[in-house]
Amino acid sequence: MFPTLEDLRATPSSRIGEFWELVLNPASLAVLWQCVELGVLDALPPEGVELAGVVGALGGRAGADAIRIAVELGCGLGLIERRGGRLHAGELSRAFLVRGAPIPLLGVVDRFGILAAGIPHLTQAIRDTALLRDEPRRWSGARARFTERGISYYWDSSSLLMRAYLDRDMTRHATVCDLGAGPAGFAARLKHYFPHLNVIADDLMYSSPEVLQQVRQLLEAERCAVELVALDVFSDPLPRDVDLFTLNRVVSAYPLPMIRDLAGRMRAALARGGSVALVDFFQTGDRAQDHDVANLFVHLYAYKYTDSDPGAYGAMLLPHHARDIAAVLREVGFRDATWRVVDPPLAIVEAAA
Ligand SMILES: C[S@@+](CC[C@H](N)C(=O)[O-])C[C@H]1O[C@@H](n2cnc3c(N)ncnc32)[C@H](O)[C@@H]1O
Repeated sequence: MFPTLEDLRATPSSRIGEFWELVLNPASLAVLWQCVELGVLDALPPEGVELAGVVGALGGRAGADAIRIAVELGCGLGLIERRGGRLHAGELSRAFLVRGAPIPLLGVVDRFGILAAGIPHLTQAIRDTALLRDEPRRWSGARARFTERGISYYWDSSSLLMRAYLDRDMTRHATVCDLGAGPAGFAARLKHYFPHLNVIADDLMYSSPEVLQQVRQLLEAERCAVELVALDVFSDPLPRDVDLFTLNRVVSAYPLPMIRDLAGRMRAALARGGSVALVDFFQTGDRAQDHDVANLFVHLYAYKYTDSDPGAYGAMLLPHHARDIAAVLREVGFRDATWRVVDPPLAIVEAAA
């Protein structure tokens, strides 16, 4: 089930900010992760429950002390509320984390639970990460493999991507092509919210029959007719007659010359009057945005440092600045390139063909 457009519109950016704050801070991530792993949040009924009731319900999963610590610290972080001696899910948990939450984001917690393996190496990773210098193309496969391991993350967090497009008049588009679409969570939402659209999702990882099958099943479960095309966005011909190219969380893995090359190919493939939009972890000069982007990148560097697969996560770059992405779009002939923060750490760059 996808969130309703009303829920997506009505959620204040500050609440999404609180969520990211908990996820990006290693200490609060540990509490959040434990509350989710132990099932604490789903053990809190709307009418509330006493601590003994939670321990009784979850005792098989962990010792009573582990549950008491998770509950107490969860209260401290606002994930759980204590009213009249009874425990209730806090506002943030009700919005994003409990079963049936209007905007489910458990996949984000799952992904950061995996990235948490890097937490002991946060400092070392800053010292030892080798930034990409050459052959960025050879990392495309590694990126695809890493995405395959985080399908719930990309699927759930696509709701946050959609927040970037809420003000766009979708009635003026007929065909949207999402490049580097991953598990197609964003493409599926486009089709769900704007059924008149012809939606194409392109990704390198669809060349794996198993992945293709998995993504098809996700789309079928939501009854979203999205065309899936296996292609390398840097070398294969891009679909024609598209009037909006979207590119979410893809370009942060590639250096500016490659993004310029891809931008030129999108510009050439776009129908007259078309446009392009990129949502990513861009720096923008906004304090809250750049703060969250910095914290996010430390997690990525540290995870990369600790993973035994040398291809894990592909190569590492510095975060891009939205201004540089807008400049690249202008260089290949796009007009009116602008950028803005969506909800930190996501920002959008948009331009017209
Ligand atoms: C970080 S994931 C983002 C997925 C999706 N856009 C989202 O935000 O939920 C990046 C995706 O880009 C894809 N990708 C990376 N390099 C690619 C390339 N050269 N051609 C096509 N897809 C590529 C990867 O396979 C992966 O699925």
